[in-house]
Amino acid sequence: MSGHFELKQQSGLEPKVYIVGAGPGDPELITVKGSNILRSADLVLYTDSLVNDELIATAKPSAQVLQSSGMDLDQQVEIMATAVEEGRSVARVHTGDPAMYGAILEQMVLLKQRGVAYEIIPGVSSVFASAAVLGAELTVPDLTQTVILTRAEGRTLVPEREKLRDLASHHCTVALFLSATLAKKVVAEFMAAGWSGDTPVAVVQRATWPDQKVVRTTLDNLPADLRAAGITMHAMILAGWALDPELVNKDAHRSKLYDKTFTHGYRKGVKASE
Ligand SMILES: C[S@@+](CC[C@H](N)C(=O)[O-])C[C@H]1O[C@@H](n2cnc3c(N)ncnc32)[C@H](O)[C@@H]1O
Repeated sequence: MSGHFELKQQSGLEPKVYIVGAGPGDPELITVKGSNILRSADLVLYTDSLVNDELIATAKPSAQVLQSSGMDLDQQVEIMATAVEEGRSVARVHTGDPAMYGAILEQMVLLKQRGVAYEIIPGVSSVFASAAVLGAELTVPDLTQTVILTRAEGRTLVPEREKLRDLASHHCTVALFLSATLAKKVVAEFMAAGWSGDTPVAVVQRATWPDQKVVRTTLDNLPADLRAAGITMHAMILAGWALDPELVNKDAHRSKLYDKTFTHGYRKGVKASE
């Protein structure tokens, strides 16, 4: 593996657009592959508000480094495509994992139309960074085996069949991106789906950044607690009984995976009587 890796490093990057997930904030939470690309790319274009400057500072000194916030889609694509056509490599750096609310499809469509190659390098999404910060497993045996990743409806509409009250009717873990200013609406939708007001909710703002904030609350108290903490943006809301902070003190939910009596491909079962 390391031989293959060294070979790639020596030969430099192919001239294409690498859509790189930077992770949630902590500069150590980018993948090794993403970091290598960032260090080698000739042009770095990044979403400034949630990508850590420490990461961007690892670009090589000769790299052209640009922020995407002041540019519209056509301008971004023009800059990236021109660079690739001139034989340069591009790191298009996105926060978290690019596949979640990364607006990458529209970039890929235009790049493809122009015949410019691209590749996606995944990153640690804020949903999983937040779970880690909270010390939570989102899929707890016998409680829930499903996580819904979604957003509350605000200025951006969601499709009719994805209304929050319908999704919440599954009573699984629900992760809400981009929803910190819509807490009242979130609560109303969950209540309409039959959730109880004492359901645990955890909010992590700027997960893994030095100024990270954690709020543990309940559905009933979510709007007031968010207001009290001054959280209006850059926050992940995780709701459901998997977020119960008491679970770790109970030892009530074990998986079958490590159960003595459960056989699977890698471990022979031990009879319950043994
Ligand atoms: C445009 S979306 C990008 C999501 C990103 N692609 C990801 O996988 O985390 C921005 C939203 O992601 C969430 N988010 C991103 N970074 C975060 C962080 N470090 N802590 C908490 N939430 C974060 C917030 O809900 C924020 O409103």
